[in-house]
Amino acid sequence: MKKVNFVSKPSKGLKGTIEVPGDKSISHRSVILGAIAEGSSKISGFLDGEDCLATIRAFQAMNVKIEGPEKQQLVIHGVGKHGLRKPDEIIDCGNSGTTIRLLSGLLAVQKFDSNLTGDSSLQKRPMERVRIPLMQMGARMMSTNGKPPLNIRGGQILHGIDYDMPEASAQVKSCILLAGLYAQGTTTVIEKGITRDHTERMLKTFSYPIEKNDNRITIDSTHKLIATDITIPGDISSAAFLIVAATIIPDSEILIRNVGINPTRTGVIQILQRMGANISIQNLRQYGDEPIADLSVSHAKLQGITIPEELVPLAIDEFPVIFIAAACAQGTTLLHGARELRAKESDRIGSMVTGLQRLGIDVEGYEDGLKIVGGVIKGGVVDSYDDHRIAMSFAIAGAAATGEVTVQDCLNVNTSFPNFVKTANSLQLAIKELSS
Ligand code: S3P
Repeated sequence: MKKVNFVSKPSKGLKGTIEVPGDKSISHRSVILGAIAEGSSKISGFLDGEDCLATIRAFQAMNVKIEGPEKQQLVIHGVGKHGLRKPDEIIDCGNSGTTIRLLSGLLAVQKFDSNLTGDSSLQKRPMERVRIPLMQMGARMMSTNGKPPLNIRGGQILHGIDYDMPEASAQVKSCILLAGLYAQGTTTVIEKGITRDHTERMLKTFSYPIEKNDNRITIDSTHKLIATDITIPGDISSAAFLIVAATIIPDSEILIRNVGINPTRTGVIQILQRMGANISIQNLRQYGDEPIADLSVSHAKLQGITIPEELVPLAIDEFPVIFIAAACAQGTTLLHGARELRAKESDRIGSMVTGLQRLGIDVEGYEDGLKIVGGVIKGGVVDSYDDHRIAMSFAIAGAAATGEVTVQDCLNVNTSFPNFVKTANSLQLAIKELSS
């Protein structure tokens, strides 16, 4: 198998204006809802990374005609709520937790049997969090010791439940809401903490009624989805790498245009601002039901902080790069309440602790977080643990280090940020891709 390493050299002032690829969460949902809508939907700004391509392939295997992506555009010819057909083969969700968890809800309510699996990383990730509520709704689903492959028995009649979520998870919430589109009666999800609400917003965009009262979200099955055109904002999770880069590298001043700033996703901005970052939100506007803005970022001296636990679900994907910011800050940064990081594409607490220690940073891991004492990042060799966000975080660390940082095994960056290296280098970062 081809391997790609990143070699990231210390950089000086970043300058320029960029855009980042489309939001991954919104891209997945545009395919899922577009597929079961009545009529054709045109999607612009779609993220053509491996994760979202896995979602497209899954629906193509279930009789949905999808044109593209070409120049980040898709046309999805929706088959309506009851038009999906049995796939001939097991559906491969690749590296994508969102694909497997959201599809488990949608497939549990179909007439046909199906099977879902993924790559070696996905096969280690917990699925009981979706299987348990779906079984309570009447689904028949088997996992393999709580992990993929998932074996789903079709032809079941599901009934709505009130589900008090034990963990803060947008994937679990979305899985249950998708099953609720078909279940008898009403389905209510009671959220433990605020999580990304793209499913709820996009259901409205597809003219599907959904009710939200405080932390209770309710849906029923008596409506249909009407096709619509969607423009997808830039992914704040991808922007985060460049926001941190411009913050920690002296003399930087950059503008990132058209970034999604849905308030359920802006924890990274709030955390970095509390640490002293200079991030200004400009030209605030809407793409359909999602708010977007241009983000202007310049260098700032950061202070370590205790990260408020209520911000954890709002920044869950950005912690690896927030830890790089903390390694460059003065003083100590402390994080607790983030056990979920251990169940991502890699164990992100373990991966970051090991890598930061290699680069000379004083860091201690806890079961649910870590403590980082800001210092000087040295050059060295670190592993990505085959995790896209770990790979990109250490590439940014290299730009602020005293010597070159090599990050091993970075092919996975294509799951969420194709052209990461090109985009970063257009701002005068110095990252090389070495293939072997
Ligand atoms: C996502 C939800 C989050 C996030 C993931 C994408 C989504 O996962 O980490 O990258 O699109 O719903 P959890 O629901 O497990 O927190």
